[in-house]
Amino acid sequence: MRGVQIAELGATPELAEIDGDGSVAILAVGLNPLDLAVAAGRFYGGHPPFPYVPGCEAVGRIDGQRVHLFGDGRGTIKDGFLVERVTFPEQLVVPVPDGLDDAAAAVCGIAGIAGWGPVARRAPVRPDDRVLVLAATGTVGSIALQGARALGAARVVAAGRDETALERTLELGADATVALEGSDLAARMREACGGDGPTLVVDPLWGEPARAATEAAAPGARIVQLGQSAGPEATFASSIVRGKQLSILGYSVFGLPPQERREAYLGLAEQVAAGRISIDVETFSLDQVAAAWSAQASGAKAVVVL
Ligand SMILES: NC(=O)c1ccc[n+]([C@@H]2O[C@H](COP(=O)([O-])OP(=O)(O)OC[C@H]3O[C@@H](n4cnc5c(N)ncnc54)[C@H](OP(=O)(O)O)[C@@H]3O)[C@@H](O)[C@H]2O)c1
Repeated sequence: MRGVQIAELGATPELAEIDGDGSVAILAVGLNPLDLAVAAGRFYGGHPPFPYVPGCEAVGRIDGQRVHLFGDGRGTIKDGFLVERVTFPEQLVVPVPDGLDDAAAAVCGIAGIAGWGPVARRAPVRPDDRVLVLAATGTVGSIALQGARALGAARVVAAGRDETALERTLELGADATVALEGSDLAARMREACGGDGPTLVVDPLWGEPARAATEAAAPGARIVQLGQSAGPEATFASSIVRGKQLSILGYSVFGLPPQERREAYLGLAEQVAAGRISIDVETFSLDQVAAAWSAQASGAKAVVVL
């Protein structure tokens, strides 16, 4: 079968002839920062033995039904989805509803749930919430931002570094933006959110932006922690966390039970199909996988369509 392999640690993907077969025909594979981290040896869960097939989430077809595929160690501890056919446990597949094209459906499972889950399920948006989304310029943040808006938050604020991408968040429904670089970050976050600061923070960054967000946060705020793009550690003052009675809530797509993941996927898919959440993707053919990999590394959301 035609597929893609990573030959050795740090290598970029190459087309390859792969042995095997399976009942699931792969239609599209969504790339994620996770795929790059696994291939580079930066993922805490390690990597499959080399050479391996990358790709942690995909949309495939079984018996005429489109399904989303994620889990079972695919792309992290064993071969992933960048190949024409796979065998996959039936109990882990999620049916893809009509109204989503293959590329959109392929990216709703990792970045999608990571963006939607915090505002819809881990810390459900309340009507009076002022939501601050860190890294709103990335895929996860952009979905969280649109999700918070769709769920009726009173105010939604986008924080990021890339100026052009921050402008785009205004088109996606942000009421205001905050540049993450520069001084007085906490004060600027509080001012952009209004009132006494954000009541809900979505945080794919950790590091200094997360510290500033705790300083900016309103009493009783919930902070949903998703990733560490700005640093693996953050230092908080006890008096702030304790004094404001902040809730810091971890959320990982990998830690979700299958039923919870299924419900989160279908909840987001409904929003995307209804046009309330849009996900900017760049599509590539299998032959263009190296270009897809480098687009993903440069901040785009790349999908390989088979
Ligand atoms: N918990 C989970 O289940 C889960 C699932 C998926 C992803 N994640 C994590 O969520 C994060 C975002 O993923 P994604 O798919 O949205 O990636 P992405 O589309 O590549 O976006 C990356 C985002 O991180 C920002 N960023 C990167 N380095 C930064 C730094 N040093 N300081 C400040 N901002 C920085 C970028 O900001 P600019 O573009 O403005 O520079 C951009 O907004 C990653 O850490 C990823 O591992 C977690």
